[in-house]
Amino acid sequence: MAERNETDKKYGVLFVCLGNICRSPAAEEIFRTRLRRQGVEELVEVDSAGTYGGHAGDLPDERMRSEAGKRGYKLTHRARRLTEDDFRKFDMVIVMDDSNYERASRIAPDIESLNKLYRMTDFKSVSRWDHVPDPYYEGIEGFRLVIDLLEECIDGLTCKLEEDNILPRHA
Ligand code: 4NP
Repeated sequence: MAERNETDKKYGVLFVCLGNICRSPAAEEIFRTRLRRQGVEELVEVDSAGTYGGHAGDLPDERMRSEAGKRGYKLTHRARRLTEDDFRKFDMVIVMDDSNYERASRIAPDIESLNKLYRMTDFKSVSRWDHVPDPYYEGIEGFRLVIDLLEECIDGLTCKLEEDNILPRHA
């Protein structure tokens, strides 16, 4: 793949869950923090959305804000619904579970868009989870598990983007 230069459009990564108030806004901020720590935040546009629009305009769930805050992630995203246009704008659309995958596939406008769909756990390394479980009806340990999984998968996603020369390799 060709080297990127300053005139290139930013690479776009969109995280998607159901409500866009628990998993995907946490993924967005964990990834952004990771990029910032590596000094490459300006290379990637990061955002999140939900397949369900019922929480549109809301801040992330208070439980997720609290648990993420304990690990240094400040969640300020406002929920919004996934749109057809997102598939044109972003290079990767990364969902949390099979239900998100199916709903997002129905919003995708064409085959090219379907090729942009990934599961977050495609990037896992050690855990056995094949999805990031919905914590909404769970206790606080469900939120901690989500953050653990997201941190692991975002390590893997960052490595993939380095291998693909989207990001420079970090030390
Ligand atoms: P999320 O969690 O998809 O990780 O944002 C949920 C948020 C809201 C609902 C379900 C899951 N809900 O049913 O309203």
